[in-house]
This record gives sequence, C-alpha cells and structure tokens, in this order.
Amino acid sequence: MNPASDSLVARPEIKKVLRRVLDKVVPKEEEREFIKNIAERVRKEIEDSLAEIPVPFSVEIHGSFAHDTWLSGDRDIDIFILLREYKPKSFLEDLLKIIENRLPYEFERRYAEHPYLHAYIDGLEVDIVPGYSIENKILSAVDRTPRHTRFLKQYLNEELCNEIRLLKAFLKGIDAYGAEIRTQGLSGYACELLIIHYKSFLRTITEIAQKPRIFIDFTNTWEEEEAIKTFRRRIIIIDPTDTERNVTANLSTQTFLKIKLASKLFLERPSTTYFFPEEKNLSEKILRKSIRERSIILIQLFIKEGVSPDTYWGQAKRILRKIRQFLKRMREVEVYNYEITETRGRIMLFLELNTKELSRYKKVLGPPIWASSKNILDFIIKHYDEIGPIISIGSRIFFIEKRNANERSIAEILKNFLDTIKIEPSFTSISVHDNPEEIVKIILEEDVSGKLYQFVTGKPPWLPEI
Ligand code: CTP
Repeated sequence: MNPASDSLVARPEIKKVLRRVLDKVVPKEEEREFIKNIAERVRKEIEDSLAEIPVPFSVEIHGSFAHDTWLSGDRDIDIFILLREYKPKSFLEDLLKIIENRLPYEFERRYAEHPYLHAYIDGLEVDIVPGYSIENKILSAVDRTPRHTRFLKQYLNEELCNEIRLLKAFLKGIDAYGAEIRTQGLSGYACELLIIHYKSFLRTITEIAQKPRIFIDFTNTWEEEEAIKTFRRRIIIIDPTDTERNVTANLSTQTFLKIKLASKLFLERPSTTYFFPEEKNLSEKILRKSIRERSIILIQLFIKEGVSPDTYWGQAKRILRKIRQFLKRMREVEVYNYEITETRGRIMLFLELNTKELSRYKKVLGPPIWASSKNILDFIIKHYDEIGPIISIGSRIFFIEKRNANERSIAEILKNFLDTIKIEPSFTSISVHDNPEEIVKIILEEDVSGKLYQFVTGKPPWLPEI
C-alpha cells in the first residue's frame, strides 16, 4: 500500500497517523468479496425481474462501491435502473412496483427528485434508483451518475482511491461529509474530484487550510470570477460531465470554515481523532451545572410524520436563522453559540445567550432634537412620568422606563415571535424552555447529552488534546 501523499513530503508523525487511518478504512479482500457477491446477486435479481418491460434498459452498480472509494464498514450500495428510451416518470414508479412485488425483500419507498427503493439486504443498505441513460440528455438528477463513474474510472487508481478514503474519513470524523441539508458538506463525488485534481489528501487539506476559496474546472469553460459570481460557494468544482453544474452546490460557508479549521489544526497537530472522534459523554453533574449557570434556551420543533429529512432540516435551519436575526435586532441580546440536533421525532435547537432576561429598565427613544417642537413636546408629554427627557449623544431625546415583569423573559418573547412564523409543512408544534431543570430533564429523557458535548464544552469531539 502506498503511504499517503508522496507528492508532499509528509512529516513522519503525519505519515504515521495516515497509515493508521488507512489500515482501518481500506476494505480487506474478504469484505470486498462479501459485498460484491451480494451486490451482484441483487443486481441480477432486479435485471431478471424486469426482463419483460417494453424498453431497453440496464441495471448497473454506481457510487463509491463501483469507484472503489468506499470506506470499510460502510455498507451502502447504489443500484441504478437505466432506461435507454424516454418513458414518463410514472413508468419509473411502475418499475419500482414490479421490483417490490417480485423480489423477496422488505422495501421502503424514499423520495429524492423522484421515488426510489431502499432495502436492507444481508447486512447491506441498498438503494435502487430508476433513471434514464439517453445520449446527450439529462432527464433526471440521477442520469449524471453513470457519467460520473465513467469519468472517474479514467483517472482513479489504487493510490488515489485510498487518498479519497482519507479525505472522506477526515470529513466524516469532523461531521462535514455529505451534501444533504443537515450537513451541507462535501459529497463523495466532490471528494473524488478534489483528489483527482490535487492528487493527495494532504495537498487537498493544505490548499483548503491556506486558500480563502478553491476553484476547480475540469471542463475549462469558466472564468474563475464568473464562476464565483454564479455559484457563490467557497469551493467550486465544475462537474466534468456537466459544465453548468457546481458539484459543491450544497456546501455552506459554515461547513467550509469548519473544514478549514480542522485542516489547519490537523497539519499542526496530526492525530487520528479527526478521523475517529471519541464518543464523549458529559456527566450529569457538569450538564446540570452548565445549564443552571449559563443562559441556555431550548427550542423543540416537533416533526410531522412522513416529511423528508432534507425538508425538515432545511426548514429548521431557516427558523434558526430567523430566531438569530430576531434576537440580534433586540440589540441587548447576543447569541454566543447554538447547536441544532435531531432526536426521536424532533429537532432540538439549543441557544447560549448572554442573558435570559432583558434588563429591568429600557431606553425609549424619541425624536431627534432637530425634529419639530410639536413632535418633541408630544413625546415628552406622553412619557412625562418616566425618567427623562434626556438627550443622547446621537442627539435623540429619550426616557428610561421600567419594563413589565412579563416583558423581560427572552423565552416568552421568543414564544410570541415563533407564534408568528410558519412551521408547516415540516413541524406540528414548537416548544420553548428556559427553566434549567426542565431542559436537563428533556436532555436526559431524550438521551442527547453525548450530542451536546461540543455545545457545552465548546470543544469539537475531533479535537485532539492540545
Ligand atoms: N451524487 C452527486 N451529487 C450528490 C450526491 C450524489 O452527483 N450530492 C451522485 C454521484 O454520481 C455519486 C452517486 O450519486 O457517485 C452516489 O452517491 P452517494 O450514494 O450519496 O455517495 P457515494 O459517492 O456512493 O459515496 P459513499 O457511499 O462513500 O458515501
């Protein structure tokens, strides 16, 4: 096996870490054989079950198993049914029905752009995805996949495949792997293209650590400036099989910055913890103490059954953004940190604020001193019983007034605010909690204290001891 990154002279301690990671993530022959046999058997079963359909088609294995870039222990197989002639989308659904009826597995229907099947077969997670393979035409999102495999196969070799495995494992470890809305990170295909371009894991993370943005265009059709304006992402990789598509369309700036931080730290303090973070649990004592002493609010969004993760995660993130903007507008409140996590049937939003209560007294701003005398007098008459009039440095007239007790709780203010925002189609209801005992009780009942390690300590679980 090739030690990672011959192109960069890796320091011995980095080499040692990467060798240990490769030992774990490169599948052994036995595992490959095991998966290959099942995948090929299921592929053939699907092909046979569709023998009578009136259209030419093929059943093919794509994705990381076909590219040999999958991580040992990951048991996902992507099987594609590709029609060579156009048939309406309802025909694709008919194909799924035939498979459900004829194959002896328990299938679940899942939905992306169009429906596909998911089954758990002999220990493997199998996705069965229908699409089209018609020359020069992309009729559904999955039609690009066979083209991706074809492109990658021209460039990949054993060494590069293992470099890809390092990158995937690194991103997985820091929770930045996957293009789905929950993560908004880099997809497997993006990792494959980054390594084809930079040739090694180390070079890739060095570039990410050093550069403010990355632009890779295999098609040589874009000017960098133009691509930045069009795609507006920190990493842009033009899909070699489709000049109009940016492979990293779902990458958020937040996730990019996390990858950048982890890359910088890894290069200074290499460790296997980035790849295989330890499960860190918070003791109940620390949890209780932190929630009691700090200004932490919990908001729960209860998920409506049958809604897809991309939909409810997207909406939860939009709600979180609205809450942060709303609190920012209140001026007195600062959101220090937040955590968003999913557990049984709900999304939990934890906010750490500078305070859970607004001050006892507030400033009520009136007109500027340049306003008409009448306006100024009206304002003074209205607030005369309070403390004022005072002239601010910004030359506004203001009074200092006592807040009502029920106007001071930020949880109450948030409840009122959340009543005004739309929670359909993802959620049935929202609850807001600021009582520490109540919050701790929910955390323990839902068994999410492990997921809160980073929120409470501020330390990502992948960070080595420094
Ligand atoms: N794909 C894509 N863009 C995405 C997700 C998927 O183009 N955001 C396509 C790619 O062609 C990819 C295939 O769908 O090869 C399968 O993707 P997926 O199963 O999500 O991941 P893998 O690439 O197979 O990687 P792994 O299983 O190791 O996570």
